Amino acid sequence: MRPFSIWPARYLKGRVDLPGDKSIAHRAVIFSALASGSTSVGNFPINDDCLATLKAFRLLGVRITLKKTRVVIYGKGPFGLKKPGGPIYLAESGTSLRLLLGVLAGQSFSVKLTAGRSLSKRPMARVTVPLRKMGATITSRKSAGEEFPPITVRGGRLTGIAYKIPVASAQVKSAILLAGLYAKGKTRVIERVVTRDHTERMLGIFKGRKLKSPCKIYIPGDISSAAFFMVAGAIVPGSEILIKDVGLNPTRSGVVKVLKRMSADLKVKNLKLRSRNCEPLGDILIKSSRLRGVRVTKNEVPSLIDELPILMVAASLAKGRSVFEGIGELRVKETDRIRSMIDNLRKMGADIRLKGRESIVINGVKPLRGASVKSFGDHRTAMSMVVAGLASAGSTRIDDVSCISKSFPEFLKAINSLKK
Ligand code: S3P
Repeated sequence: MRPFSIWPARYLKGRVDLPGDKSIAHRAVIFSALASGSTSVGNFPINDDCLATLKAFRLLGVRITLKKTRVVIYGKGPFGLKKPGGPIYLAESGTSLRLLLGVLAGQSFSVKLTAGRSLSKRPMARVTVPLRKMGATITSRKSAGEEFPPITVRGGRLTGIAYKIPVASAQVKSAILLAGLYAKGKTRVIERVVTRDHTERMLGIFKGRKLKSPCKIYIPGDISSAAFFMVAGAIVPGSEILIKDVGLNPTRSGVVKVLKRMSADLKVKNLKLRSRNCEPLGDILIKSSRLRGVRVTKNEVPSLIDELPILMVAASLAKGRSVFEGIGELRVKETDRIRSMIDNLRKMGADIRLKGRESIVINGVKPLRGASVKSFGDHRTAMSMVVAGLASAGSTRIDDVSCISKSFPEFLKAINSLKK
């Protein structure tokens, strides 16, 4: 347990350099490991989740070197992975575990995947069901009609499927596409709502089934981490923050659109459509302004799924009413983020309530007041409460911020450097 107290900021000013995008980093490691030739990945985020993926591929026999934020992966080719000496532990990284299931479904050996406390309670049937349809043999811990880690996967002769995904999830889509690399025939995933397309882009960079290394990849800054600074800059009066090299993939940048609809003074500068082999990026300049309430619809949710907790903070301080619709998937993240944010923001004086099981309504108040709140072991809840604390009257105490290392170990340092 690492408690943390935060006092209101007079204003925030300065520049933020972000760690690389976590979602893209996992995929860069996976594709590089399965490719022929070595790949040098720049701006690799050194956080618990991405390190879990690196460790997993080392256990599968891939040589990987790490110097500062540069990772070099010596690819083994699609059939070069080796059976590890024991189970692979993925800590709390859901993306590592679900994507690895897709890769392992195509191998000719069996592996047991184990997880930490919170990930062991997250649903896995969404991935195991389609992978079994493709021909993989998978056993898992079953409870109340759902499947959970530990999971043992034995690869088989896979056959391509056309699969309509019942939940909007890029992790599920990616697991199926990765297994598709090993399947006979065509694999097709049909989504009701578009989710992040990093895997499809990687498939393009690595020339599909050829899995040819592009030699170099540069990972843009993580927009999910940038979102905390966007909202902090918007809600702390007198602030001006320049966030450098933010990944601006259209399937990920819903937060930018929503903040603009809320009347945030947000500008995208130096937009580049493709950064050295990878994805669009640009700088974001955010200045404080009076925010207005907003309606976020179910179809937008996948493009800002991880930014919903911090957008709830913004909505709590906006003028008028905000509605977030169809956000049920938040219940199966690192914690139930609907519960964690309602509990915490209410303690700070916010007017936030559940509407049905899947939506929330927030009536803006001003100001929030400092309180004693909980991270629930969830990095995005913890960082959201730090930002709420910056714009509240009095001090805010968060019970445990050690979870922040899951995605952004340098977050508190970056916040402190902006605080005036
Ligand atoms: C991710 C997809 C999302 C997101 C997670 C990362 C990915 O999860 O919440 O943080 O890298 O594919 P779901 O696919 O479960 O929605």
